[in-house]
Amino acid sequence: MRILVLYSHPVETSFNASLHEVIVKTLKDAGHDVDDCDLYKEGFEPALTRQERIDYHELDINQANVASYVERVEAADALVLCYPVWNFGFPAMLKGFFDRVFLPGVSFKMQDGKVVPSLHNIKKMVAVTHYGGTRLRAFLVGDPPRKSVKRVLRAVIKPFAPVQYHALYDMNNATDAQRAVFLKKVEEAMSRF
Ligand SMILES: Cc1cc2nc3c(=O)[nH]c(=O)nc-3n(C[C@H](O)[C@H](O)[C@H](O)COP(=O)(O)O)c2cc1C
Repeated sequence: MRILVLYSHPVETSFNASLHEVIVKTLKDAGHDVDDCDLYKEGFEPALTRQERIDYHELDINQANVASYVERVEAADALVLCYPVWNFGFPAMLKGFFDRVFLPGVSFKMQDGKVVPSLHNIKKMVAVTHYGGTRLRAFLVGDPPRKSVKRVLRAVIKPFAPVQYHALYDMNNATDAQRAVFLKKVEEAMSRF
């Protein structure tokens, strides 16, 4: 499969960087064609500009500023997201990727005033993330990051495509052993991709 890995963490010595490394290596070892998109390293600009908002629904021009990223999304058969939970959401880099690249004509179409999801080239999606807080704390606020993946993003990819959400909660108290178990779990998920 051609797999687009969207990685969003600014620190190269972070646990997230270790997850990213394991994801890319394991997928490549399993024979996949991996497009490794490190949003910080690539200097992705996450803020939708004034003009981009104005042109948002203009299908002939709305992709112009992010054409290379649209191409990478459209060339992919699957998506892997690797990021930490910040303010119970995606880090701004990754959120901005969705704002600027998942455009009308890319991830959805407007038909008779209705949004019709269209990113049907994505036949599988896996999110790998971690929270500082406990699962109970996330549950009490409705765990928005989990829903963003399992409901919101799921709705735009191929209908009934498998979606996995691998999350390590309570990173504030996680031991090295717990991190190692999670890394292993992610490695196994990637080897079976
Ligand atoms: C800007 C920022 C916002 C954060 N917001 C949350 C949050 O809303 N919920 C949560 O459980 N953890 C939150 N965290 C904790 C991160 O998820 C935690 O730092 C991470 O899982 C540990 O990984 P790290 O070593 O990459 O920081 C936040 C951390 C940062 C830096």
